[in-house]
Amino acid sequence: MASDANLTVCADPATLAETAAHLIVDAATEAVRERGRILLCLAGGETPREAYRCLALPAFSERMRWDQTWIFFGDERAVPPDHPESNYRMAYESLLSKVPIPEHQVLRMHGEQSDADAAAAAYAAELAGAIGTKRGELPRFDVVLLGLGIDGHTASLFPGSPVLREVFRAVAAVHVAAAQIPQRLTLTFPVLNAAARVVFLVTGPEKAKIVRTVLSEHSGLPAALVRPTNGVLIWL
Ligand code: 6PG
Repeated sequence: MASDANLTVCADPATLAETAAHLIVDAATEAVRERGRILLCLAGGETPREAYRCLALPAFSERMRWDQTWIFFGDERAVPPDHPESNYRMAYESLLSKVPIPEHQVLRMHGEQSDADAAAAAYAAELAGAIGTKRGELPRFDVVLLGLGIDGHTASLFPGSPVLREVFRAVAAVHVAAAQIPQRLTLTFPVLNAAARVVFLVTGPEKAKIVRTVLSEHSGLPAALVRPTNGVLIWL
């Protein structure tokens, strides 16, 4: 297992969802205490849905300072926000519609924009504006949630993609021929690896093999390239 990752194997998806919700609340409490707000970047796909639902339950939601919470997205498909495949819609349905977070503190990626490169640049500018990063600095999220594809992709960073070598741009437009929705926007490794805490949420026996591969040394898979330079890497 990668030496700097810590791995928790939960008994079942419900326990994983609760563990993730606890982790987010604890990280948020610390971030708000120390920096006056929490910068939380959400993962897409299906796996995080249960964790978001859990976080919206009073037992967790009432411990969050939603007025000091800022929500961002790790990636988005080229669909409108009300599309069944939209990562934003999944987060909205399971969490954002259920908690009192000020609307302007949820920064959606506009994946539906026809000029994907412009949408990527616009989101990078929004990130910098909201987080207050200066030119040349990278936005540092307090928590980045990520999922894992069975091919070792994470966010929309897929094996063999040129974006894996991106070192400057924080957000990129990618075309993933193999994906159900090929056109996507994604955060890049420099931003993921600038985070204080990166948490992979992975469930299901079909993912056990890819988790083992990614956590073994030198797999070279995209998810294995997520190594926070000054932060914690957590696998649930
Ligand atoms: C996406 C996600 C992607 C996802 C994995 C796992 O937009 O699809 O960013 O990286 O996390 O594909 O997806 P599941 O959780 O649905 O298995």
